[in-house]
Amino acid sequence: MTNSELTSRLLRACRRLPVDATPIWLMRQAGRYMAEYRALREKYSMLDLIQSPELAAEVTLQPMKAFDLDAAIIFSDILVPLIGMGLKLDFHPGQGPVIHNPIKTTYEIDLLGTPPAEETMAPTLEGIRLATAELTPRAIPVIGFAGAPFTLASYAIEGCGSKDYAKTKALMYREPAAWKRLMEKLVTVQADYLLKQAQSGAAALQVFDSWAGLALGQEAYRRYVAPYNTVLFDQLNQAGVPVINFSTGTFSYLEDVAACGGDVIGVDFRMPLGAAWQKIGLEFPIQGNLDPMALLADWRDLKYQVDRVLEEADGRPGHIFNVGHGLHQSTPVENVRRLVDYVHEQSSHSDTF
Ligand code: CP3
Repeated sequence: MTNSELTSRLLRACRRLPVDATPIWLMRQAGRYMAEYRALREKYSMLDLIQSPELAAEVTLQPMKAFDLDAAIIFSDILVPLIGMGLKLDFHPGQGPVIHNPIKTTYEIDLLGTPPAEETMAPTLEGIRLATAELTPRAIPVIGFAGAPFTLASYAIEGCGSKDYAKTKALMYREPAAWKRLMEKLVTVQADYLLKQAQSGAAALQVFDSWAGLALGQEAYRRYVAPYNTVLFDQLNQAGVPVINFSTGTFSYLEDVAACGGDVIGVDFRMPLGAAWQKIGLEFPIQGNLDPMALLADWRDLKYQVDRVLEEADGRPGHIFNVGHGLHQSTPVENVRRLVDYVHEQSSHSDTF
């Protein structure tokens, strides 16, 4: 065990070791709800921030200065590696990300490149080095991340967010061989990118499969997603750092999600943690799962919902507190501060560490 593995609450929880208080970090902890972030966005586009190592590190550190969080997550977006594969990505204010040349034919799948991350994602790898240098003295890990192949494939095919995933599922069901080629290319690129984030200093990795569960039932997940996620997580065993497997909408087949791999299972806000543990077994650490919209409530109701999450976790080693999906841009900063401090206070048991 390295020194930071001994002292970081997050890394200890990833191994189900006892902690002095439950670790907490929040998906989308850097972003528009913070005035410091909005001030930078007045001057720079989203891609400017991501493609400058110094600015990406600065945004990563903004919530670390404001709150007593137990981990940072490198500032970027899961869609950025698609640029290196040949897709034209833009972030439109109010509209979200758009791909100007979405995949329309199977031939376009064959044209997609699979360049190594040091050629296409170098600013993010350098941003991880910079943020890690700042946080290592405090024994706070930087989390690296990437999207899982289904979530990226659906964006590459739809070109924007989708309610029914019609184009994605049409390709998946009608052209299984082309689907396999696309998923394999995405696994190649994401596995390489995640391994290089770990080599650049990321002390944990999170894979976001935000959409597979919203789009697919168990049978389709097993046939069209699980085989590729399994290869991805298998390759990440070489990273030497814990891997968090996060998905949404997958409660009815969470055991299939967990079987794909990952050291920690990240769960959304739709399921009680106790039920999730029952499905996958107590040997898995779990990350989750406050509804991020609870942070839009008054403290009394927010506290009530936080207490329910802590009650479900029941003080077990191997609980990482998080929201069950990213923070909303209208989140009051004061609620984030109270949440982080309250989780630490409520879960604090200094005798066990
Ligand atoms: O968690 C973090 O703080 C790390 C950074 C991060 C972002 N997006 C920054 C971001 C991470 C891990 C993501 C993941 C991501 N991005 C996912 C998977 C998780 C999820 O939320 O479902 C998906 C599907 C995307 C794609 C994406 N990026 C969408 C749909 C949007 C538009 C929605 C929105 O909130 O604007 C984005 C934009 C985005 N990604 C912003 C940020 C901070 C807002 C950019 C801005 O306008 O400043």
